Amino acid sequence: MITYEQLTEAAEYIRHIICGIPDLGIVLGSGLGHMADAITDPVYIDYKDIPNFPVSTVQGHNGRFVYGKLYGRKILIMQGRVHFYEGYDMSQVVMPVRVMGILGIDKLLLTNAAGGISSELEPGDIMMIHDHISSFAPSPLICNYYDKLGVRFPDMTHVYDPELCDHIRAAYEENNISFKSGVYLQVAGPQYETPAEIRMFSAMGADAVGMSTVCEAVAARHMGMKIAALSSICNKAAGLGGELSHEEIIAAGDEASGRLALIIGSFIQKI
Ligand code: HPA
Repeated sequence: MITYEQLTEAAEYIRHIICGIPDLGIVLGSGLGHMADAITDPVYIDYKDIPNFPVSTVQGHNGRFVYGKLYGRKILIMQGRVHFYEGYDMSQVVMPVRVMGILGIDKLLLTNAAGGISSELEPGDIMMIHDHISSFAPSPLICNYYDKLGVRFPDMTHVYDPELCDHIRAAYEENNISFKSGVYLQVAGPQYETPAEIRMFSAMGADAVGMSTVCEAVAARHMGMKIAALSSICNKAAGLGGELSHEEIIAAGDEASGRLALIIGSFIQKI
């Protein structure tokens, strides 16, 4: 379990490398990492050099922060994240987002690769997350130093900030990308779901499913950060299309990443 002191030690390390407080933190999910290439004069901070930081073991995830400017805004991008299924506990999984909060970043954009459950979603679509279901993964708020970060029982009525969501919607329109919005459900993974699980999630109101993001959104909301989130729909969820393969899902994410980059670019100019 990561301690509060370990969080602040990691934040201090990063604070000495970047200058000023970034205007926005972005977490890039599976297959979306190369979007950080657009940053001008990038400064790279490898996760392995940051004290106490978890380092990803999954293929397709680079493990570093990229800091620099995009459209005149100071942006701190996480190129790759760690997942609960890698064997880390939730306090480690959300550590990077906690560290961003301690650095003073107050706006966060989370992205992920997801399976589409709703019949409205096709592979290649980008879904804005307007709400989530966290009940199938442990809470990242289970710890004894919560009071240094937020309250014990935080409200989760508006996890995704209405104003940032408006900016995201406008960013779709600007780029003529059809707007999709839905509820994302986080599973622990790493196995993909069964068709029966997908039918259950569908009945519960989930539109898309994946193995990340919700825990980070909960931790960031706990700290009072403003959050927006986007899912790149890579496949139809189990039982709604063919069998699922990680390689095909990463490739589909790659295909959608151009549209995702357009939305993120317009979004950044609005914040
Ligand atoms: N299920 C869970 N995680 C995923 C999926 C899926 O269908 N697609 C991409 N990540």
